[in-house]
Amino acid sequence: MTQITPQPGIMDIALYTGGKSTVEGVSNVVKLSSNENPFGPSPAAQEAVRRVLHEMHRYPSTDHGSLRQAIGEVHGLDAGRIICGVGSDEIIHFLAQAYAGPGDEVVFTEHGFGMYKISARVAGATPVEVPEAERVTDVDALLAACTERTKLVFIANPNNPTGTMIGQAEVERLADGLPPQAILVLDGAYAEYVEGFDGGASIVDARENVVMTRTFSKLYGLGGMRVGWGYAPAGIIDVLTRVRGPFNLSVPALAAAEAAIRDTAFVEKCRAENTRMRTWLAEALMEHGVPSDTSCANFILARFSSREEAEACDLFLQKQGLIVRRVAGYNLPAALRITVGDEASCRRVAHVIGRFKAGER
Ligand SMILES: Cc1ncc(COP(=O)(O)O)c(C=O)c1O
Repeated sequence: MTQITPQPGIMDIALYTGGKSTVEGVSNVVKLSSNENPFGPSPAAQEAVRRVLHEMHRYPSTDHGSLRQAIGEVHGLDAGRIICGVGSDEIIHFLAQAYAGPGDEVVFTEHGFGMYKISARVAGATPVEVPEAERVTDVDALLAACTERTKLVFIANPNNPTGTMIGQAEVERLADGLPPQAILVLDGAYAEYVEGFDGGASIVDARENVVMTRTFSKLYGLGGMRVGWGYAPAGIIDVLTRVRGPFNLSVPALAAAEAAIRDTAFVEKCRAENTRMRTWLAEALMEHGVPSDTSCANFILARFSSREEAEACDLFLQKQGLIVRRVAGYNLPAALRITVGDEASCRRVAHVIGRFKAGER
């Protein structure tokens, strides 16, 4: 008999469920379940990957200097305070590993992104879920939940899966009200969808207790490449870099991300198209009696009258080859999260939901 057991907390982790991508018996599905860019990656990113194909036998850069330089230039940030990871998921993991352990608390909101809880558990820390105010981050509730054991407070702004956002003054109030041992993490996975928004970079620059995370998986269309990054005070970057594996990002991933961030025309086009179709989709759903909060991201949280109705609508959509995301796991059982696809997909999803609301099954 062995006595092999995992670290405390590991067996409490509920496995992350990604968005579905297939429906049995249905071909030609449209996947609107993972907030991917309907236009794919920038052609420049694809070309950059083709160019490095012959270099696969070489180890990648350990310091990601060239990518950090590009991110710094495009966003006007200090490249020395950027760290790159295997998706922003990995930056979230680094933070939890480096700053939270048994006896510590990791705070996030009730409809917050699933990796906050998983990373806290992996680190052996205690996840603390805080109510939102009608699907909006509630700064007072977050501050009230902090104790002398709080090490990390995560908010996504805009939030997933609600799509809602809080303003700069509220984020600053949160940062300034935290206990001295706590770090505020501003998860900016959807920041690019908000015209003119810096994701919280200026709040990071003005403080010692704030970190911003960003990703190439959403607007840049590189979810499959797995590249994200964090921006933080120098002392925190030093800590996180010690936790990071030296070769965490592959040669093609680095090449794709660098080309993608420099292709600002593609970014502009995707942002504008998302804004146009998001407005259209929200209005079309509203006309069918399906309300949603104003979304600042690339998805809409469609609200139904009950869990049963949301599930029935999901099944009806699946039969028509449309895959959206159930969000019961995010304490939103009566809602479905629908990624803003291209115009044809948006029209199709709105049409099918209209048929469902008219009684078809
Ligand atoms: C709020 C939020 N943060 C972080 C991530 C992680 O993305 P990635 O690891 O692909 O960068 C996601 C992905 O869905 C997200 O929605």
